[in-house]
Amino acid sequence: MSDELRILFVEDSPADMELEERALQKAGVAFRSLRVETKESLVAALHEFKPTLILSDFSLPTMDGLSALRTAREHSPGVPFIFVSGTIGEERAIESLKNGATDYIVKDRLGGFVVKVQRALREAEDRAVKVRVEEQLRQSQKMEAVGRLAGGVAHDFNNLLTVINGYSQLMLTQLTPDNPLHAQAEEILRAGERAASLTRQLLMFSRRQILSPATLNLNDLAKQTQNMLRRLIGEDIELRTALDPALGSVKADPGQIEQVIMNLAVNARDAMPNGGRITIETGNVVLDEDYASQHPGTKAGPHVMLAVSDTGTGMDEETQSHLFEPFFTTKEPGKGTGLGLSTVYGIAKQNGGSIWVYSELGKGSVFKIYFPRTDEAAAVAPPKPEVASGGRGTETILLVEDSESVRKLASAVLASRGYKVLTAEDGDAALRVLGAHSGPLDLLLTDVVLPRLSGPEIAFLVNRARPGTRVLFMSGYTDRGIVENGILESGISFLQKPFGPDALVKKVREVLSAKV
Ligand SMILES: Nc1ncnc2c1ncn2[C@@H]1O[C@H](COP(=O)(O)OP(=O)(O)OP(=O)(O)O)[C@@H](O)[C@H]1O
Ligand SMILES: [Mg+2]
Repeated sequence: MSDELRILFVEDSPADMELEERALQKAGVAFRSLRVETKESLVAALHEFKPTLILSDFSLPTMDGLSALRTAREHSPGVPFIFVSGTIGEERAIESLKNGATDYIVKDRLGGFVVKVQRALREAEDRAVKVRVEEQLRQSQKMEAVGRLAGGVAHDFNNLLTVINGYSQLMLTQLTPDNPLHAQAEEILRAGERAASLTRQLLMFSRRQILSPATLNLNDLAKQTQNMLRRLIGEDIELRTALDPALGSVKADPGQIEQVIMNLAVNARDAMPNGGRITIETGNVVLDEDYASQHPGTKAGPHVMLAVSDTGTGMDEETQSHLFEPFFTTKEPGKGTGLGLSTVYGIAKQNGGSIWVYSELGKGSVFKIYFPRTDEAAAVAPPKPEVASGGRGTETILLVEDSESVRKLASAVLASRGYKVLTAEDGDAALRVLGAHSGPLDLLLTDVVLPRLSGPEIAFLVNRARPGTRVLFMSGYTDRGIVENGILESGISFLQKPFGPDALVKKVREVLSAKV
């Protein structure tokens, strides 16, 4: 937005206009101006000149003051409108204020004129800020509600998809490729995997994804993703980076940050069908109290900015107001799911950050994400322990899961790999089963969200009865227990639903084989 002051004079006397202009100039007010005296020229000026202030005479040859006021209110409701008139009487002055005029000034008393103009401008600016902040607040509340809904749906779907994908994988291992059912099972699995990827994105949007945050330097990630991005965006688009060498660190999930860069870059590419430029920029930014109070959801303090900008089509206001909603897309059916930016939004929020967009039609767009800066230095991630493939074992596992179909599937998969499996549908049953079992227990594999006793509570009780039992949690998402705001406590093993038989077997082996 430009700060330039543009004054529209609704005035039939050029001499009067000059007097008022001079009063403002003498007070050091800089402005551009335009004079109109008919209704048609007023309407045109409201749209083309876009005044930031209207100064109107009360009696004009072809239009009376009140109808000028009504016209201005209709076409430019937020712009301050001040009557400047030699003839305005008290009654008419009051009537004009009732009709929405900001103020009135008597022409032969131009002394208070400048003060009144400046006050009107200040108040208009305050009102505009207030409207903007309220709008942003409404927007974030809406996103919150949509997020809860999406998270709930995704959670339930994850159990169903664990079963659908799990059994189709099992079927595939039991059918020879020449069996006609093989191809059909493959189709089921493909569709199931597609559905799993949708629920994963919904979980990210609703900030229910489980995170493994690390201390990161965003420059490293921007560099790591460059090769992939180049392939993705094609040759007509130039990829530039402007990375601040003194960039501070952030605490975030590296996989998620890569996802953010990818989603933004792909959108930028799609907005530039005839080529253009994508710029990835990083920088240290300190957000002040003023900024934070005008941007709900941001905190003042040192931040690290990641910006992705393009020279593409840009977006109109309408598109911008729906941008982050899940399933909002302007792409043709089959081209976009409308989940790209919702995931980016969720990721930014879940990592304590915020996201803002600036865009102009025909010029391009900039997406800026601010992550809180941390003082810790970025560390190199420790290598994951190697796990022997095959993943067979003979240990005893206690499996606690309330969904019967997931329980049956997991138990069948583990038993087929040689494990001894005890099953229970909740904590009470688990303790009963354990009491009746005289052999050893090596692993507790438990859902997190369960009726009555939660997964972590069961883990506590099982470990009291059988000290040293290893624990592996599984969940679609969780609000409580093992995670705080979706962030996994270190040292806890976790398997994200939906999982396939291979992932389950691999993770179980990893937990059982890990050194303590
Ligand atoms: N850089 C951009 N320039 C212009 N328009 C954009 C840009 N980024 C997003 N948009 C608009 O926002 C809409 C939503 O973007 P989003 O990434 O959420 O979904 P999508 O790209 O349509 O589909 P998906 O990412 O799920 O494949 C887009 O359809 C497009 O209209
Ligand atoms: Mg997209």
